[in-house]
Amino acid sequence: MPIQPTANIWRNGELIAWDRAQIHVMSHVVHYGSSVFEGIRCYTQRAGAAIFRLPEHMQRLIDSAKIYRMPVPYSLDQLASAVVDLVEANRVAPCYIRPIVLRGYGETGVNPRNAPIDVYIANYPWGKYFADHEQGADVCISSWNRLAPNTMPSLAKAGANYMNSQLIRMEADINGYAEGIALDVNGYLSEGSGENLFLVRGGTLYTTPLANSVLNGITRDAILTLARHFGIPIVEQALPRELLYICDEAFFTGTAAEVTPLRSVDRILIGKDAGRPGPITRQLAQEFFGIVNGTVPDRFNWLTHVNVPVTEAVSV
Ligand SMILES: Cc1ncc(COP(=O)(O)O)c(C=O)c1O
Repeated sequence: MPIQPTANIWRNGELIAWDRAQIHVMSHVVHYGSSVFEGIRCYTQRAGAAIFRLPEHMQRLIDSAKIYRMPVPYSLDQLASAVVDLVEANRVAPCYIRPIVLRGYGETGVNPRNAPIDVYIANYPWGKYFADHEQGADVCISSWNRLAPNTMPSLAKAGANYMNSQLIRMEADINGYAEGIALDVNGYLSEGSGENLFLVRGGTLYTTPLANSVLNGITRDAILTLARHFGIPIVEQALPRELLYICDEAFFTGTAAEVTPLRSVDRILIGKDAGRPGPITRQLAQEFFGIVNGTVPDRFNWLTHVNVPVTEAVSV
C-alpha cells in the first residue's frame, strides 16, 4: 500500500513538514531494529472523526519502551495530545496513525544506551487491510514460529519483531494465502503476522493467551470486552493447531485487520457453512464496527473525538 503523504509529522514536540522527517543512515535503529511503535485507526462517523482507544495505544507504546529501557520524555497525556494535534493539523480522516520511538544518531555499537531517543508521529489516509471482510480470508499455518519467550519479548511492539512477521507474511503471500498464522515454539497456536487469533467452538470463544508469544492486542481486548458484554463464554488457553481445522468459526483481530473472519485454514473450510462467517463472529463484528462507525453507543469509552472535516472513506 503506497503511503499518501500529509502536511505534517510530529517530531519531539513540534510539527515539521513531512519531507523533513528524515533520519541518518547511521542511526541506531537502522542497524539494530531499535524502535517501538504503535498503529492506531482514526475512523469517520456521521458526527466527525474519532480515534479508537488512543490512551490504550499510548500506554502500550510506553510499556514497549520500558521493556527496552528507552526513556520516553513525554507522558501518556502529552503523547495522546500530540496525536490529536497532528490529526487535526493534517485534516485527514479516516486515517492510520503511526507513533514511533526510536534510537537515533549518536553512537555505533549494539549497546544502545547512549543513542538519543527520538519520538515521531505520522498519520496518513488508509483503508482496509484484508480486501474482503465479508467473505473471510484464506490463511495458512506458517512454517515460521513466533518469537520464543526469553528471546524477543512479544508484549513489546518493537520494530525488530516485525522481521519475524515479514517472514510469515511473505511466505503466505508467495503461497497464495491472505495471511499466515504462526505457532509458538511449543507448537501451539500463536497469532498472525499482525493479528490476534480467535476461534469459536460449541458457543465458546477461544483465544490464545499472552504466554503463547502474542502481542496484547487492543482490538483483542475490545473483542473480549464485547464477548463479556454479550455473555459469550471465553476461554484463554494454549490451543492446538488442529482445533482451527475443526472449529465452528475463526477470525483475526487487529488495528489493521479490525475483525476479519477466516474462511479457510490450509485450504480446509472453517465451520459447517462453506467457510461463511458464523453467528458469534458476526455479532461481535457488528458491535465493533457499530462502535467505531458511530452507529451504536460508545459504551466502553473507546473513542477520542477529533475536529477534522471528514473526507470520503478510502479503499484499497
Ligand atoms: C503481531 C501483532 N499481533 C497482534 C496485533 C493486533 O494488535 P492491535 O489490536 O492492538 O492492533 C498486531 C497489530 O498491531 C500485531 O502486529
